[in-house]
Amino acid sequence: MATQQVALGDRPAWKALQAHFEQVGKKHLRELFAEDPSRGERYTAETGGIFLDYSKNRVTDETLKLLVQLAEESGLREKIEAMFTGEKINITENRAVLHVALRAPKSESIVLDGEDVVPAVHAVLDKMSGFADRVRSGEWKGHTGKRIKNIVNIGIGGSDLGPVMAYEALKHYSQRDLTFRFVSNVDGTDFAEAVQDLSADETLFLVASKTFTTLETMTNAHSAREWSLASLKDDAAVAKHFVAISTNAKEVSKFGIDTENMFGFWDWVGGRYSMDSAIGLSTMLAIGPKHFREMLAGFHEIDVHFRTTPFEKNLPALLGLLTVWYTDFFDAQTVAILPYEQYLKRFPAYLQQLTMESNGKHVTLDGQHVATETGPVYWGEPGTNGQHSFYQLIHQGTRLIPCDFIGFYKTLNSLGRHHDMLMANVFAQAEALAFGKTAEQVKAEGTPDWLVPHRVFEGNRPSNTILADHLTPEVLGKLVALYEHAVFTQGVIWNIDSFDQWGVELGKVLATRILGELESAGKPDGSHDSSTNSLIERYRKNK
Ligand code: F6P
Repeated sequence: MATQQVALGDRPAWKALQAHFEQVGKKHLRELFAEDPSRGERYTAETGGIFLDYSKNRVTDETLKLLVQLAEESGLREKIEAMFTGEKINITENRAVLHVALRAPKSESIVLDGEDVVPAVHAVLDKMSGFADRVRSGEWKGHTGKRIKNIVNIGIGGSDLGPVMAYEALKHYSQRDLTFRFVSNVDGTDFAEAVQDLSADETLFLVASKTFTTLETMTNAHSAREWSLASLKDDAAVAKHFVAISTNAKEVSKFGIDTENMFGFWDWVGGRYSMDSAIGLSTMLAIGPKHFREMLAGFHEIDVHFRTTPFEKNLPALLGLLTVWYTDFFDAQTVAILPYEQYLKRFPAYLQQLTMESNGKHVTLDGQHVATETGPVYWGEPGTNGQHSFYQLIHQGTRLIPCDFIGFYKTLNSLGRHHDMLMANVFAQAEALAFGKTAEQVKAEGTPDWLVPHRVFEGNRPSNTILADHLTPEVLGKLVALYEHAVFTQGVIWNIDSFDQWGVELGKVLATRILGELESAGKPDGSHDSSTNSLIERYRKNK
């Protein structure tokens, strides 16, 4: 695939957007709604029960036309095809990017290097299903003959954030007599607290690591083995209490896990795009194979939508293009993800890796320094909690923070008026952010003059509102795929490699070197800068 693109600044749509921004950049959402009262109905899109209202964005028909033109000039259509057909679009690692194959139905065929990958995907899913059924039913016994009651996933990054997020999101559907814990941090406290009330003879560890070499995961996995064997006192117990999820059979065997107990995936699945691969085994153990497959069907429905729908009605493309608009024209530095659904409490954290590890890049595919800003900082908390902490800054601070509100028509836990109250807050926040409150309105309420400026809400703060019926495995799959493809859209416009992550390497290398210095008896070599040298000295003296 050609990596040479017309530089972003030279694309006609980009130039047109620059000129257009001069016209509309300062326009208030109050004016935009007054000029076109129908925009609340017109600027919406829906697919598979996921409804997007993007009318409270600082855009006009012309903006949308130019953003769609930008997508076309940037080759988004061709690049979607390149991804879906297994071209090696992750050029710095010479890899295909085929997470869409993880949720392809059995009847589809996706050929990579002359081989259809779909049968292998389904073979792993079948193996996971068989295993999940045996553990959930109690047929799979631990070393002493007891059934498994506790499942501990050990992984980090994509091998942790997706599993934790999905477990929390789908807890309603989970088998409640199984306890799930997730250990990721190399801080020993994470492991110690996760197992402190568990019995080794009832505990199954899932060691989840694409590479099976990640320092944190391997350290935690070794501690888990020691913890298990301290109580089970027989190396043979590992076979009943440890399974591996990895692409690296050699390292799995070296660790002592029989590859019979390994669930594989492939180098064409990026860590942050892997929650629907075998990395999702904890999810399947929690919610069962049927629900897991419903989640995959949800992913797939959005895949088809992204691949086939014109950009002006294409939810992921629209979300991605709007983020480019704010990042590069309004200089917005962040995006707030605000789910009004307690079960989605880890969704913002999950999206942080998906978005920031993907698009936190400063070099284009052809190796040039980018000429515009790229991936913004994603952050957020579930509503309504955020309203009582950071929303003040979104409403009245000096920064522009585009927000994504996510809500549901129905709750999974009906309790008095709670759900209407929750949803009233979604609509109220989006309205307040967009339209604010003028000085005249504040004065008319009898506010003394000196207090008026403090109580004015400027408004003109953009947001998207995403709605669905209620949170199901299928809807979760749709939401994740929506953001995956929005990230892809952004990466295509910026012409960056959204699928590598070289930026995490330097810290890893330095940490390994410093670890030697912290633990060696001899004097450290003192070859760092003066700050790092003296921090090392201080730690050695005081540890
Ligand atoms: O360090 C970053 C990273 O490589 C992520 O991209 C990945 O999700 C995580 O580490 C864990 O990697 P692995 O699954 O190979 O242990």
